[in-house]
Amino acid sequence: MKKILVTIDGPAGAGKTTVSRAVALELGYTYVDTGALYRGLAVIVNQKGVDPNDDEALAAVCKELELSLIPEEDKTRVIANGEDITDKLRTPEISMTASAVSARPLVREWLLGIQREFGEKGGAVFEGRDMGTVVFPNAEAKFFLHADPNIRARRRHQELLEKGLAVTEEDVAKDMEKRDKDDSSRAVAPLKPAEDAILVDSSQLNIEEAVWVILDWVKKKL
Ligand code: C5P
Repeated sequence: MKKILVTIDGPAGAGKTTVSRAVALELGYTYVDTGALYRGLAVIVNQKGVDPNDDEALAAVCKELELSLIPEEDKTRVIANGEDITDKLRTPEISMTASAVSARPLVREWLLGIQREFGEKGGAVFEGRDMGTVVFPNAEAKFFLHADPNIRARRRHQELLEKGLAVTEEDVAKDMEKRDKDDSSRAVAPLKPAEDAILVDSSQLNIEEAVWVILDWVKKKL
């Protein structure tokens, strides 16, 4: 059977990660969480105390940074210059730094090549913000997974609580609103559906249903 590229973009908390992983598993494809690359860079930027708006310092960090992704059953492991930083990726602070560095053109340019290399052989599900619009404009199956902002905030809050992080739903909603606004309004590769993307609203769908909807479309392309 033909091995294609599937892209799943969308705002925070729409269920992209769980859905993308399940779609990849079902198809026997590689799953690539591109947000983990931006988060990996954010961890190093914070560790070094670099200002995300300082292009010169950012360029120096990118030049020396080798990031690899190891997809596992329930998470993507991120290795930065040989160090496993997986446990540091999913905090509210790193989410905001990731969003800040992701608005810098030099960062997007640097990660563009890395992401395209991952997709060279096809047979992959890429999750992110600009997979269908910028990184893989020729992908055979593109999706934009979204949901009502209140539902997204509730889901993300639950996720953080399960990780033992003491945050309020109001704070999660506020952070998410800012991040979505910044991601959607940045000059380079803003968050938006590709013209040929299929919009999937997960507000009223559980994970299995969203996966089923996407697989149904993907199978038409195989
Ligand atoms: O998907 P996740 O929440 O892990 O992504 C963290 C941040 O990385 C996003 O808010 C966004 O700013 C950035 N990102 C991006 N382009 C991608 C993936 C993530 O700009 N393809």
